[in-house]
Amino acid sequence: MTHIRKAVFPVAGMGTRFLPATKSVPKEMLPIVDRPLIQYAIDEAREAGIEEFILVSAAGKGALEDYFDTAAALELRLKAAGKSSALDALVPTRMPEGALTILRQAQPKGLGHAVRQARRHIGDEPFAVLLPDDLIQGTPGALSQMVNAHAEVGGHMVATMDVPLKATSAYGVLDVVSENGRIAKARGMVEKPRPEVAPSTQAVIGRYILQPNIFDRLENLGPGAGGEMQLTDAINADVDQIEVSGYRFVGDRYDCGSIQGFVQATAAVALSRPDLADELGVFLSRDLSYPTIAA
Ligand code: UTP
Repeated sequence: MTHIRKAVFPVAGMGTRFLPATKSVPKEMLPIVDRPLIQYAIDEAREAGIEEFILVSAAGKGALEDYFDTAAALELRLKAAGKSSALDALVPTRMPEGALTILRQAQPKGLGHAVRQARRHIGDEPFAVLLPDDLIQGTPGALSQMVNAHAEVGGHMVATMDVPLKATSAYGVLDVVSENGRIAKARGMVEKPRPEVAPSTQAVIGRYILQPNIFDRLENLGPGAGGEMQLTDAINADVDQIEVSGYRFVGDRYDCGSIQGFVQATAAVALSRPDLADELGVFLSRDLSYPTIAA
């Protein structure tokens, strides 16, 4: 069994769906309640046993890179003021020495191109990829579940979730050969199929465990859907040599790359917090269809 030690976090996208906010704030720094999106992905990876964290960043994302620095002046002030719970909130932002690598993708040429930047840092071992846009609440986390399943089947593994048939055209969809519990053996993925031609209703979600030879595929990859270098095309190109499987994780996934998903994630995370749930529950159960006029 190979221990999955390294994870790549592609965070170089432009986040145009969140403009104007993302004009100066990286999408991955937008908070769901009080933690930025990137923190949820880092925590999920940590829980799954990841020891090396490789962020593929881009120009203009300084706030994301600074987030993992020690805030010495802030910590001193909080200590002096006796604000221990505020200090505790900083703990998850600390990374062990040398555990964080930040690379740059010079141009936003697509997810496949972003992952390719990590080749030298991954070397010759299987690794995980997490898209922070996909926030998944699960116990254990989705990547932990996948690491366990991957120990059984190896190969390339993608996370999947069931979607309604009418929604297949919004996702990459797994072409399933056979299923064994939550693991589906696949002959690849089809990008955004219309429901009539969708090979299954298992949509591919932003968690992957990949074998290092994916980099050879990525080196030779041309532009795919949307003119971008697609990670799914590289996985598809490998199906004859390497087993490809889907893992249907247990958990709730929110597409925080879309405004709708982001707002839903905010409500769901807040409702899962004992300090926020009661009041928010009352608020959400009100008739919100017309604005309240302040007295
Ligand atoms: P998206 O397709 O959501 O693109 O990327 P985006 O640019 O982030 O957002 P929009 O569509 O303009 O609103 C999916 C994931 O791939 C990363 C993104 O950071 C996100 O995690 N990505 C995408 C890169 O790292 N580089 C790229 O060139 C493209």
